[in-house]
Amino acid sequence: MLQSLPKQFFAALVGRAALASAAGHDVINLGQGNPDMPTPDHIVEALQAAAANPLNHKYPPFRGHSYLKEAVAGFYEREYGVVLEPEREVAILFGGKTGLVEVVQCLLNPGDTALVPDPGYPDYWSGIELARAVMERMPLTAANGFLPDYGSIRPEAAAAAKLMFLNYPNNPTGAVATEEFFRKTVQFAEEHGICVVHDFAYAAIGYEGRQPLSYLQTPGAKDTGIEIYTLSKTYNMAGWRVAFAVGNPSVIESLNLLQDHMYVSLFGAVQKAAATALSGPQTCVQENVARYEARRNILIGGLRELGWKVEAPGGSFFAWLPVPEGYTSQSFADLLLDEAKVVVAPGIGFGAYGEGYVRVGLVSSEDRLAEAVKRIAGLKLFV
Ligand SMILES: Cc1ncc(COP(=O)(O)O)c(C=O)c1O
Repeated sequence: MLQSLPKQFFAALVGRAALASAAGHDVINLGQGNPDMPTPDHIVEALQAAAANPLNHKYPPFRGHSYLKEAVAGFYEREYGVVLEPEREVAILFGGKTGLVEVVQCLLNPGDTALVPDPGYPDYWSGIELARAVMERMPLTAANGFLPDYGSIRPEAAAAAKLMFLNYPNNPTGAVATEEFFRKTVQFAEEHGICVVHDFAYAAIGYEGRQPLSYLQTPGAKDTGIEIYTLSKTYNMAGWRVAFAVGNPSVIESLNLLQDHMYVSLFGAVQKAAATALSGPQTCVQENVARYEARRNILIGGLRELGWKVEAPGGSFFAWLPVPEGYTSQSFADLLLDEAKVVVAPGIGFGAYGEGYVRVGLVSSEDRLAEAVKRIAGLKLFV
């Protein structure tokens, strides 16, 4: 079965960028989705204090500390007006990625169908393959605002589907969901008995003052699914591996049950720091979003000045750029690496509907992004 796991497409990209750096080139790496700023001090300090507390040197409770689940519930009520029962509607996860893979093992048997966005985050495929389930791709196109069109899903696939992954703000397209789309999602999921797993990894990152919607704000959402929220991006905590799932109590119970057999929850000090992040001051989040927005404006504004017709993302820290005539996503990414020493992710790595685009991460400073624009200008592609 391990042989059938999808190839980690982006490992090759990381390798090529490393080679170019090792050869002495000044490479601007905009290919990955790793936040470039450190975790805010007050969160690091909470970890340091908690690490010194012998209570955290013991096994934590199997399903995580109650104080963290209560902090999650408080966070959802404060941010989204969504009320959660901490012990029944919250599961603590070792990062969002783990939860996304686990939930498929919980809900699908071999041969069952899962609906996945295309382009989409490749870890959805990994979980589906591990469960020996079948994947039905939902195209995300510019014409539909990069939202799936439920009317165009094959009726046999809709009838067979048991699970659907969604992700807004979206990686890789930067699209955000609307209330109407989430209402249609609940309706479609109810009609076909599908569990919706909304990957809310970029929850905090919405532009022009708009806070991205939680799926759980939609009436009926809790009956039809869960949302997975990671602290990786909101609080620059990607290395800490802490996230949580919230929503439908029966799905939450399944996740907890599976995890009872795999882990004894996260290091207590990480749980303490996560609770501090969720309940403490949120100015660090606002600063983070403002920083990404300034970078977005520099990149998009700069590229438009070159004559490249690009859309600004509504959320996430990615820009999804159509490749110029005559290139594939791979050949264009190769050109940028070879000629401008700028690394971008070819859209094909996110699925067949990613062809024709490259993804650029806003995970470098304004200066570096401006420098990337300057180098791209030097290629004279858009004159
Ligand atoms: C769309 C999406 N979902 C989930 C994740 C996983 O985040 P983590 O495992 O750090 O919680 C990422 C990380 O890049 C992502 O881009």
